[in-house]
Amino acid sequence: MSARHELSVLIRAKYPILYLLTWEEQRALECVFSVAEDLGADTFVWSLTKGFRPPLPAKRSEPPQRLSPELEALAHLHGAPENAIFVLKDFHHWMSDYRVQRLLRDLAETMKVKNQTLILLSPVLRLPPELEKDVTVVDFGLPTEEEIAEVLDSLVHATRDREGLDLHLSPEQRELLLKTCLGLTLDEVESVFSRSLVQCKTLRPDVVLEEKKQIIRKSGLLEYYPATESFREVGGMEYLKEWLKRRSKSFTEAAEEFGLPPPKGVLLLGVQGCGKSLVAKTIASHWNLPMLRMDVGRIFGSLVGQSEANVRRAIQIAEGVAPCVLWADELEKGFAGLQGSGMSDSGTTARVFATFLTWMQEKTSPVFFVATANDVSKLPPELLRKGRFDEVFFIDLPDTEERREIFAIHLRKRKRDPGAFDLDALAALTAGFSGAEIEQTVVSALFAAFDAQRDLTQDDLVAEIKATIPLSVMMKEEIEALRDWAKLRARPASRNDDLD
Ligand SMILES: Nc1ncnc2c1ncn2[C@@H]1O[C@H](COP(=O)(O)OP(=O)(O)OP(=O)(O)O)[C@@H](O)[C@H]1O
Ligand SMILES: [Mg+2]
Repeated sequence: MSARHELSVLIRAKYPILYLLTWEEQRALECVFSVAEDLGADTFVWSLTKGFRPPLPAKRSEPPQRLSPELEALAHLHGAPENAIFVLKDFHHWMSDYRVQRLLRDLAETMKVKNQTLILLSPVLRLPPELEKDVTVVDFGLPTEEEIAEVLDSLVHATRDREGLDLHLSPEQRELLLKTCLGLTLDEVESVFSRSLVQCKTLRPDVVLEEKKQIIRKSGLLEYYPATESFREVGGMEYLKEWLKRRSKSFTEAAEEFGLPPPKGVLLLGVQGCGKSLVAKTIASHWNLPMLRMDVGRIFGSLVGQSEANVRRAIQIAEGVAPCVLWADELEKGFAGLQGSGMSDSGTTARVFATFLTWMQEKTSPVFFVATANDVSKLPPELLRKGRFDEVFFIDLPDTEERREIFAIHLRKRKRDPGAFDLDALAALTAGFSGAEIEQTVVSALFAAFDAQRDLTQDDLVAEIKATIPLSVMMKEEIEALRDWAKLRARPASRNDDLD
């Protein structure tokens, strides 16, 4: 549903107070004006600096009042004309004031009957629990392809006769360009177009994409992650790889026609250093999709009020880039605030989390969500319930065969021929080692060999292995507990022969 359509439906259904959440004030206002015109309603816009525009008709016998501007604005609305829409800008600043709350609740009651709608327009969501029942939050979505096309057309029209510019686009180029712009606000679309024109005298999707990456990074929430890792660099995990391979074409039109729903996502749990992050990164490159990495700390972080807008913005961007993979590494780090650990953040984390869960549950857009975590005790149980992730995988310490493979991968990565080493012996010696620790022994052994001015030998590797105490020894109890937990709740990423 487009933002305009949603707004129009809510106003016609007489929802008295709408909280319109957006950074794009101008675009939102234009949308409100156009809906109002359709409905034959008058629109009045209030801001702290300008008061009501156009001015509201004054009541006849109005005593001189000494109220602060925001209270005066609300008081004024009580006598305002019927069949009208009122837009109040930046009201989030005053939402915690008990007088504002009371005035809004009174208004919610009377407005319905008078065919009036109040719209709170703000980039930040601040809705006290007292008002939750009276106020409907509307996410004003980012521009659609059609809206972006309008900007493009007017740009082409305006610069038509300018010397040296080539604005000709084939239908395919045009479509690619418009698709590339999804996820940006209209202002941002205008600036990426200008940049492309200044830089190369024409509109090039690749220039637009570069600029878009910058803009997304600047938002501080998401980042385009250049995923180059392939399955070949990941040792073991055959069940997980198989599961991912089966879904590699699931975002194509063919899959949709076949009747497949787009997969929602996976949660990868497991022991530290066993390749959770590594395998997460391979998904996007294996599926040939762009990957966005989400800064969990920033999104769920407890900058009160900001965080909810943040998570909504992040979701919008990801949906704008879709089909894509959205990667949240070390998800548990985002939930410090949920534990009630004395660091009270007045429920922000919980609300942000709820927004996120709802999105995961209901999303229909092709955004594949990959999360990794190694401390299950910090993850809220709701997250693990059915319907959120398609699957929860547990990545355990590698078994003998997997360790062999991991040695081969890391030797090859460092220009050594794995065939020149006794991999079976190395694998047998490293029971309890994680992939990261195996990599580390290879690197340390290379240092030793380089220092001794000769090439790497089996003995260098064995010496390093003997000198290493793996984390699994130091953290035996924790790992056992994690395994027990996972046995009942997660699917193993690999067969793990050693455990039998
Ligand atoms: N199965 C594996 N195959 C190949 N390399 C591996 C494997 N597991 C780990 N490694 C190596 O160890 C490095 C660290 O692994 P990674 O960061 O993916 O672990 P992790 O499970 O995310 O750990 P953490 O819980 O500490 O985040 C990888 O970059 C890779 O080089
Ligand atoms: Mg990791």
